[in-house]
Amino acid sequence: MAQPFGLAGVMGWPVSHSRSPLMHNLWLKQHGIQGVYVPLPVQPERLADALRGLVALGFAGCNLTIPHKVAAMAHVDEVDPLARRMGAINTVVVQPDGRLKGFNTDGFGFWQSLIDAHPGFRAEAGPVVVLGAGGAARAVVLSLLERGAPRVRLLNRTEDKARQLADELDAQGRIDVLPWSEREAALAGGALLVNTTSLGMQGQPELDLRLDALTGDALVCDVIYVPLETRLLRQARERGHVTVNGLGMLMNQAQPAFHAWFGVMPDITPELQQAMLATL
Ligand code: ATR
Repeated sequence: MAQPFGLAGVMGWPVSHSRSPLMHNLWLKQHGIQGVYVPLPVQPERLADALRGLVALGFAGCNLTIPHKVAAMAHVDEVDPLARRMGAINTVVVQPDGRLKGFNTDGFGFWQSLIDAHPGFRAEAGPVVVLGAGGAARAVVLSLLERGAPRVRLLNRTEDKARQLADELDAQGRIDVLPWSEREAALAGGALLVNTTSLGMQGQPELDLRLDALTGDALVCDVIYVPLETRLLRQARERGHVTVNGLGMLMNQAQPAFHAWFGVMPDITPELQQAMLATL
């Protein structure tokens, strides 16, 4: 049965920084779909109730952001196989029978944004350094491994979480977990550096990292998009590296989610990009 009024949103804590409402509402308008996409500030201990509430409220589904991507897996009825392998979901779709199904479009969004920014990049190019071991890291690491990254050096403040991620994702022992304190030395010879932590996001502490060990042709990527240029990306740009901010990942992960809720694949148009950039 078609939704009489399209409802979706993003659950996060905090969530006020999210530009997903702007993007999805623009797409709803462009496609003549009556509806609205709202920010949903949900405390971690309320996540299960909030997800269940989607059905009662008539939502088509929702996105999930910090810190819910891993925890939400336990509160949906079904998980898509790719998301199951990642161990994290960023999209929930309410099925016609009221069951909740979880998907993960972050890996697709991340890879697509990388390729958009640097069409020649190949995951096989060399070792990859990934900072963080939360939900975003799972999507980033799996998408890189699947595309042939020879080794992933994984560093997280809480090392146990990185180990757990490595154990769950790594079929061929291609992930090396290193202590957070070794993050500068770990850059040596890396072809790509990705920050998936919240460090450097507006309102959060800065990421403390000198890039001296990084070779000149390495790509530097931050999944953060507020601010658009984090300190990490500024340092990298000043050293002459190709940089990729989190806005492309945000827009690319959103397309399949919008399609799953509203049945139309939206485009990343110059108009959308300008509207997003105008707020950053
Ligand atoms: P997401 O779903 O976006 O990945 P998350 O699961 O909450 O969000 O993960 C946040 C990441 O930022 C984690 O890797 C976290 O490290 P911990 O596992 O040690 O918590 C990292 N992070 C957050 N604040 C940090 C800080 N002050 N120093 C270092 N890492 C931090």
